[in-house]
Amino acid sequence: MNQNSEAEIQMQYIQKCREFLEASDQPHPTFHIQNEGCQMNTIQTESVAAMMEQMGYVKVDTPEADAVVYNTCTVRENANQKIYGHLGHLKSIKKHRPDMKIVLFGCMMQEPHVVEKIRREYPYVSLVFGTHNIHKFPELYCRTLHSDSQIIDIWKDSDEIVEGMPTSRKYPFKTGVSIMFGCNNFCSYCIVPYVRGREKSREPQAIVHEIEKLVEDGVTEVMLLGQNVNSYGKTLAAPVTFAQLLTQVEQIEGLRRIRFMTSHPKDLSDELIGVMAKSRKICHHLHLPLQSGSSRILKEMNRRYDKEKYLALVEKIRCAIPDLSLTTDIMVGFPGETEEDFLETLDVVEKADYDTAFTFIYSRRTGTPAASMENQVPEDVVKERFGRLLSLVQEKGRRASSRFTGTVQEILVEEENREKGTLTGRTQHNLLVHFPGEPELIGKYVNVRLDTCRGFYYFGHIVRENEV
Ligand code: 5AD
Ligand code: SF4
Repeated sequence: MNQNSEAEIQMQYIQKCREFLEASDQPHPTFHIQNEGCQMNTIQTESVAAMMEQMGYVKVDTPEADAVVYNTCTVRENANQKIYGHLGHLKSIKKHRPDMKIVLFGCMMQEPHVVEKIRREYPYVSLVFGTHNIHKFPELYCRTLHSDSQIIDIWKDSDEIVEGMPTSRKYPFKTGVSIMFGCNNFCSYCIVPYVRGREKSREPQAIVHEIEKLVEDGVTEVMLLGQNVNSYGKTLAAPVTFAQLLTQVEQIEGLRRIRFMTSHPKDLSDELIGVMAKSRKICHHLHLPLQSGSSRILKEMNRRYDKEKYLALVEKIRCAIPDLSLTTDIMVGFPGETEEDFLETLDVVEKADYDTAFTFIYSRRTGTPAASMENQVPEDVVKERFGRLLSLVQEKGRRASSRFTGTVQEILVEEENREKGTLTGRTQHNLLVHFPGEPELIGKYVNVRLDTCRGFYYFGHIVRENEV
């Protein structure tokens, strides 16, 4: 079966669902959808929402709806707990709405113990599917509409990427575009390779074609997404590097800003740094997860770089792109982490000058190598270290982002604030800026002088050309 025909088959199921709903006693049903986790999940949530809307559902903000859909995450245990909390609440809603359909999909559903628990303890959930068969949603949902029993369909893996499924987006002018799925890195703490499967890249032509269509439709900023974009294209029949893909995307006329996420430090190439430095469109923002500053812990994490290599890489990138905004992910409390190891992490934070660092407490994920390591760090020690890391990250972040005070930056205007007459937008460095202006400017680019920095955002004013 070729890929287009799969999308076409699913469109027919959307039509079938629509006809079924129109003929029912509830011709204008409502749905509520919620996303947990990363930006790649967000795209898949938006796609499922688009399919629901094509079936005739109207989106609402409350779970008091005819259908409730959750895209789940399992990177850390607290995301799982949140879903079980939601399910408890839905049980009480379903008591007075017995026809309500409850749908769970995404990463958490790829874990056998989770599915077993849902089967046993949450029989009122209508449909469960995973990460590999999201394109089958219309077909599965059609079955759910015709059935009162729980439907579970989890695929172990898949080498197929189905193109051409419906999509929707929050902003008309910017969006994420997945360029690859899965991960082959097997960092020892991480569940992603188990729930998202082996790395698969989309064909560059499919990506470029999608972005061209988006640009025709008003998009001027794209974020290229993958668990590790630096290894994009390695597994394609005709291999392409990520830098080569960026060069192709850069040529799309009408596209003004290109972002990407996430880069793994172990394979960030000189070719990529060169392309980024030369580009007129690639934003000077790099998300480069550190995880730990201790070379010993990095080895245990299977990250395949050490503290010195990471810092040398940061220096090399800053040399090529001096105004770079650098962000990162850092984890505290990996098994066996000592005070000395933790001090190495603080040392990298001191030296790397991050604009923002996302900080996490290590979460033990069943099935990963780290889960069975001895020396799990006691909770009180982890919490204390986490507090120290957070204060340093915040202090450094405030200093790093205030370096643009007084400069004029091009801002993509995103929305009007609650306070009327004030707009919010972002610089290419991804910094938030508030400034007076009219809502007609939403989706446009304006030059704004950044007058005052308030921690992680700025207040500014629009400048006319002759003031720049
Ligand atoms: N515990 C805590 N944080 C984790 N991350 C991934 N796995 C875990 C885990 N088991 C963090 C990493 C990654 C980010 C997306 O989530 O820092 O970069
Ligand atoms: Fe997880 Fe490591 Fe893959 Fe990122 S690169 S998704 S942390 S295994």
